[in-house]
Amino acid sequence: MSTTNKEAAIGVFDSGVGGLTVAREIVHRLPNENLIYLGDTARVPYGTKSERTVIAYSKGNAGFLVSKGIKLLVVACNTASSVSLPVLSDELNIPVIGVIEPGARKAAGITKTGKVGVIGTYSTIRSNAYKNALERISPGIEVFSKPCPLFVGLADEGWTEGEITELIARQYLSSLKETGIDVLVLGCTHYPILKAVIQKIMGEGITLVDSAEETALEIESVLRERGEFNDGNAKALREFYLTDVSDTFVSIAGRFLGEKIENIEMVDIAGTPA
Ligand code: DGL
Repeated sequence: MSTTNKEAAIGVFDSGVGGLTVAREIVHRLPNENLIYLGDTARVPYGTKSERTVIAYSKGNAGFLVSKGIKLLVVACNTASSVSLPVLSDELNIPVIGVIEPGARKAAGITKTGKVGVIGTYSTIRSNAYKNALERISPGIEVFSKPCPLFVGLADEGWTEGEITELIARQYLSSLKETGIDVLVLGCTHYPILKAVIQKIMGEGITLVDSAEETALEIESVLRERGEFNDGNAKALREFYLTDVSDTFVSIAGRFLGEKIENIEMVDIAGTPA
């Protein structure tokens, strides 16, 4: 089917289900846009893998979505955004939007103490992508980072509250609380699912920045600038591609997306590092 650029879909990829928190914000903010989601469920997690591997996987994922004729690529995975965005932006001739820059911009804009916390996977924190973006946007800003790897499993399991979740959250977050930060960036696709418990541990005085929400705003502004809104689209298309489909996927995915997920197809993606 040939489409004009307006009608072409927004392509979104993530290491698995987590990026559905970004897809949910896109659907909420831009309901007329066609959306194609690719979750690399066979190779998740990315957060514990090397830069080289994540870049190779990201290139494969991007290539698949580009072959679907998308008008804009969203790298919904924080880990993939933090290491592969420059490569993808260089190689593709469509706009490529990651989740780091929008989240960092928001955090830098609202901090009053000039002290910002960032939580994410090991790879995201090790890459310093948020720290570098925050320091570039707001020189002199102080950034306190902390990997919180177990949050991914808790979100997948739907353990969004309760004693164990609170204990883990307190263990990760109490040192950050003592730094004087007034803003905390949720630098991982899974963390918005745990927003309530994170807010409870951090206290009301600390504002949480959801990179997924900020990314949807950024997509809206890029489409506006390019005159590429798919206005007048009565029934937006949603397609979901996965590299592995497990029994638990549909229920987990529904929780992340906020609606029942349909139109799932399994695909093979190339991308083992050379
Ligand atoms: N999507 C990843 C991220 O935002 C979390 C899951 C993973 O480690 O792959 O960093």
